[in-house]
Amino acid sequence: MTNRKKHIVKGIASWPWYRGFFQDPYACFNNMSKLHGNLFVLGNPIPLSGRGRQHVFAFGEEANKLVLSQPDVFRSGGQVIKGPRHSALQRLRAGIIAINGVKHRQHRKLMQPPFAKIAVASYVPTITRLIDQVLDRWVMDKPFNMYDETTKIANWIAAHILFDHEDFDRSTQTCELITRWIDLDVKARKLPIAFDIPGTAGARLLRHAEIVEEAMHELINEKRKETEPNKDVLSVLVHAARAEKADLTDVDLAAHAVILHAAAFVTTATALSWAMYLIAQNPKFSSEPNEEIKSNITNWPPEASQVDRLPLLDGLIRESQRLLPPVHHVIRTATSETELFGLEMQSRDRAVVSAFMTHRDPEIFENPSQFDPKRWLDNKPGPFQFIPFSAGPRLCLGYQFVMLEMKLVVFRAMQRFKINVLDNTHLDANVQLTLRPAAGLPMVVSNPDGSFKSTRVTGNINELVQCESNQA
Ligand code: HEM
Repeated sequence: MTNRKKHIVKGIASWPWYRGFFQDPYACFNNMSKLHGNLFVLGNPIPLSGRGRQHVFAFGEEANKLVLSQPDVFRSGGQVIKGPRHSALQRLRAGIIAINGVKHRQHRKLMQPPFAKIAVASYVPTITRLIDQVLDRWVMDKPFNMYDETTKIANWIAAHILFDHEDFDRSTQTCELITRWIDLDVKARKLPIAFDIPGTAGARLLRHAEIVEEAMHELINEKRKETEPNKDVLSVLVHAARAEKADLTDVDLAAHAVILHAAAFVTTATALSWAMYLIAQNPKFSSEPNEEIKSNITNWPPEASQVDRLPLLDGLIRESQRLLPPVHHVIRTATSETELFGLEMQSRDRAVVSAFMTHRDPEIFENPSQFDPKRWLDNKPGPFQFIPFSAGPRLCLGYQFVMLEMKLVVFRAMQRFKINVLDNTHLDANVQLTLRPAAGLPMVVSNPDGSFKSTRVTGNINELVQCESNQA
């Protein structure tokens, strides 16, 4: 590991950086990197009060490898904010994403079978049916919010593989509970922990977590009534707990259920929205995967193996995940004294690595802001160079599943519609847990007449991505 030049900011000077980190990480990380390089440290924000806890921002492939491949040195703490001890919020956040060590390895192993490649391929009939149920409701030439639609698709599909839900009204209610949790999390994030102070977002978040927890226990109790284990993830876990295959309490089950559901639909909805946006705004390129689909697949639903053999569609999906990765950064906490690029870290210091920043490294991706799905035809980046699903032992469990799901959604949408962004849309991307369209994504669909045309869009999206539409 080579030593890096570091830049340390603490005391009052760190306040604007901390604010930027919590409220607008995209702009904040860009500034860190432009002004000070790839190793930036935010120290104790309280002047004259000792060393305190440091936040170490380390960007690039080598940093990803060091931080993500050593789970015993850098532990995961999850993506949502903490609650006080014994609160429902504190119990619920301890799902698969936030547990560590032996417990994490055991629980992850139990969850794996429904995500294996062969199991994933068997979901195609259900996934395609659910996609059509949503796409059937799209009305030609009538603007709608694509983010709401991709949320619906991602939520229904997640509810199916995680809980075997066919009651979509109910899964929509769970989706709304989780969406509200995230909204409150974003509002309460100004403090690192949700305090129970009446009238604040923190207090509302704590009350809301109690409602979510109750809904999860109801779901678990229903699974308990099944005599035989089903194929869905929650059923597998509930029956493993019953058979005492692992130390899995009711608290663990509720936390896994909610975190899995959130991890599955929030990310996928965002990723799908961005893919739709990029297709619409890059008409010349989009016509090629469209041709690839038409000339290779005429049946619906297709076999998973047919979908695997569409390199342009694959490139399009990967390129959208590269440019606009839903999980913008991940945070890890040092378990003991260690060092990173020559910088001493103490137990409880945090390391922050970023998919967004890594994917913008010109040494890995030439002309990184440019949307260019064809770069994937002969470019196979390493596991720590392309990290929309993280990397190492905590690689996203759902990544094979979601690659197939995204291809099927995009494939079907392109087969059935011409997709456009509503003209004169103002589109900002910001991090609200995921990197997402800040205020929805207005789009309009029409008959697929073979023509493609982009529209005029304003907003920070034009700084983030160079599309055919925003090039002179
Ligand atoms: C485009 C969609 C998705 C993206 C970009 C994504 C990304 C990620 C990332 C970056 C992580 C690591 C988070 C961290 O370390 O803090 C992760 C973990 C995880 N994801 Fe995904 N994910 C997606 C969809 C899904 C889906 C559909 C499922 C399940 C149905 C899923 C299940 C999980 C699980 C269980 C973990 C925790 C793995 C562990 O800690 O061992 N994800 N995902």
